[in-house]
Amino acid sequence: MARSDQIDLTMAHALLFLLFLLPLFIAAQSNGNIPVGYSITANTNAADPWLSPSADFAFGFSQLEDPNLFLLSIWYYKIRHRTVVWFANEGVPFSSGSKVELTSGKGLVVTDPNGKEVWESGVSNEVVYGFLNDTGNFVLLGNDSLSKWESFTYPTDTLLPTQTMKSGLELYSRWSETNFSQGRFQLRFEDGNLLLNAREMVSNFAYDNYYSSETSDTSNASNSGQQVIFSDTGYMYILRTNGLRFDLTPRPTDFPASDNYHRATLNFDGVFVQYAYPRSSSTGNTNWSVVWSEPDNICVNIGGNEGSGACGYNNICSLGDDKRPNCQCPQGFLLMDPDDEYGSCSPNFTQSCEEADVNSTANVYDFSTLVNIDWPTSDYEHLNPSTESQCRNTCLQDCFCAVAILRAGQCWKKKLPLSNGRKDTSLNSKAFLKYRKVDVPPSNPTTGPPTIRGKKDREPTIVVGSVLLGTSFLVNLLFVGAFCLGFFFICRKKNVKGLPTSETSLRRFTYEELDVATNGFGEELGRGAFGIVYKGVVQMGGSRQVVAVKKLDRVAQQKEKEFKTEVNVIGRTHHKNLVQLLGFCEEGQHRMLVYEFLSNGTLSSLLFGDPKPSWNLRTEIALGIARGLVYLHEECTTQIIHCDIKPQNILLDEYYNARISDFGLAKLLMMNQSKTMATTIRGTKGYVASEWFNNKPITAKVDVYSYGVLLLEIISCQRSVGDFENGEVEKAILTDWASDCLEQGKLEALVENDREALNDWNKLMRFVKVAIWCIQEDPSFRPSMRKVIQMLEGVIEVNHPPCPTTFSFPT
Ligand SMILES: *[C@@H]1O[C@H](CO)[C@@H](O)[C@H](O)[C@H]1NC(C)=O
Ligand SMILES: *[C@@H]1O[C@H](CO)[C@@H](O)[C@H](O)[C@H]1NC(C)=O
Repeated sequence: MARSDQIDLTMAHALLFLLFLLPLFIAAQSNGNIPVGYSITANTNAADPWLSPSADFAFGFSQLEDPNLFLLSIWYYKIRHRTVVWFANEGVPFSSGSKVELTSGKGLVVTDPNGKEVWESGVSNEVVYGFLNDTGNFVLLGNDSLSKWESFTYPTDTLLPTQTMKSGLELYSRWSETNFSQGRFQLRFEDGNLLLNAREMVSNFAYDNYYSSETSDTSNASNSGQQVIFSDTGYMYILRTNGLRFDLTPRPTDFPASDNYHRATLNFDGVFVQYAYPRSSSTGNTNWSVVWSEPDNICVNIGGNEGSGACGYNNICSLGDDKRPNCQCPQGFLLMDPDDEYGSCSPNFTQSCEEADVNSTANVYDFSTLVNIDWPTSDYEHLNPSTESQCRNTCLQDCFCAVAILRAGQCWKKKLPLSNGRKDTSLNSKAFLKYRKVDVPPSNPTTGPPTIRGKKDREPTIVVGSVLLGTSFLVNLLFVGAFCLGFFFICRKKNVKGLPTSETSLRRFTYEELDVATNGFGEELGRGAFGIVYKGVVQMGGSRQVVAVKKLDRVAQQKEKEFKTEVNVIGRTHHKNLVQLLGFCEEGQHRMLVYEFLSNGTLSSLLFGDPKPSWNLRTEIALGIARGLVYLHEECTTQIIHCDIKPQNILLDEYYNARISDFGLAKLLMMNQSKTMATTIRGTKGYVASEWFNNKPITAKVDVYSYGVLLLEIISCQRSVGDFENGEVEKAILTDWASDCLEQGKLEALVENDREALNDWNKLMRFVKVAIWCIQEDPSFRPSMRKVIQMLEGVIEVNHPPCPTTFSFPT
């Protein structure tokens, strides 16, 4: 068919359709019924919306600030200033010319101007018509007049009378008053509690809540909250399982539902408010009145160690009379996004630790004094007692110090980015905020203050923040085992080629830089076969990053080229179960590696600590390590055999993901040390395959062996080599004992009656069998790491393993 015919036909259809529908439209508006086939197109002179019987509510497209964007939404039809109570597509608008249609199979369907489907409501069953209830609920109904979908089940940022909130339901704040995309705050009903919290935008990780109804009762389950109810009389309360109520709306209210519309909205700034509006507003310029709101003071109640607080980083929150936050950048700081006053601020100067004038800082920097302002979670140093001049001086002399707070004769030094900034008159404090008097350009542009991105890129900002704040956790030793020297020879690589540094994104640090970053190698994280690991803070990609700096004292004589080759091999690995190498230093005698810093220490301290980690977490960790090893063995350009898999070499990130560390170092060490290997290995026990002793070739199967031992430790939470003196002789060598337990069918003993593990019997059995396969003395009997994963995941059957013929460790 020719194109013009097509258009003609379409137009004719449309006309016919319109003529046919016109009377129905009017009918629909009066009784709220919308038959399948009805549609609304988004354009400036938008078709009439669908109305509820009383015309209190409307459903259709709302035009946004950008006149080409339309939000599919429900709003109060009779209130002049459009108040949206529900919206589709997580607040992402549709372009002009998009169309929403009610279909029987998919419910509401939005197509873009090209006819491409871009959103659908989905339905549980065939739909015959839709109905916009006078409660503001849009319901799709089937032949049986039962609901197949309703907007009340998918609340956005607002609850309405007759709506309930059951366990697991979440409301998200919008991004700003006029941008409906999901913002930073959440209202959740969880474990019987109504909670408000800010969230990390990428992972949706919930930060500490800043409001809780505290209606969870662990000692008496029937007293716990069961659901949140918004009654048709305009009262919100939490209904407990035993039928008692916890009132959210104070009783009685001055706003009877007969005379007022009610709604409860999680505002974009994180404050949850129940509002009322007179139904018969003759003046037409009435505002929404606040019935109640939570929290009391969002500037102060958002505490915790994570996230930026009620405002963005470096911003200061003060509470308005309406209990809504106002944010203002301090002197010397500017909004990153001038249109987002709630976003982050960045200093309009740069403070560098490398300036020639570090000694004359007093000439360059000064302080502005702010009264009753604090950033309570950003401190790195506490001086007690301290005078005002000491407090100012110590911050002035310290190139990391951004602000010093003096309160009650004590001084706190704070670093960027500052979070949870607030004004609080009860503080009685002074803040000395550093600013630059003369604008001397910093000698090295890469060492400027963190460039915190504002509203448009808020997501990365929050990630940066949480990484930084992870430093407040205690750090466990990175490299514990002193006996790991032994296995670092012969780890081979396929395809060894010297690669120029430019092929990786590794950063080359000067010794000076790392000396400053680690505060003169002041904070030791641990010691291992290669030397000592220190904690430090460096500037990376415009922000400050906490790092672990490994000083390699045994590879000092390494030839430059070999060192670089090895470092490049490590630097080109990228996997979520590996610790990421960020950079290195090679200067004179100094060889150092700079890694990302992980906040939750080693698997060793988790596994053998108290309380022991849950079975679930343990199995996740076991799988994570296996995935990391598959990557090293099979998926990276150059095969890497780790040669030293043990719990001290597995680190845990902030979400307790297992991350393998120290891979690729075997080769480095070997170059100098191979002669001493044979003697060193004698002291090693526990994780070592027999190939090391009998001159067989070393392959990736040595890692499989060590993984098997590690897996048994993860299953049992016991060390591979126990305490002989403890009298538990049969448990002394875990590998022997585990295989006995399997043969004799007493896995309960192996997991020490861990309920969670025993309830997961099939998996437990599978894991133990896989471990025994891994520790077979003959390397060819051991599975590859890829096969290990498939067996652990239950994708392939695990046969009963033969006895792993133990060999004795030479002593
Ligand atoms: C409209 O809402 C009210 C209150 O929730 C309810 O009782 C009624 O059944 C609803 N009507 C339809 C057609 O869903
Ligand atoms: C709303 O804000 C988000 C996040 O900054 C942005 O990605 C999106 O484009 C904005 N939407 C509109 C309609 O401006």
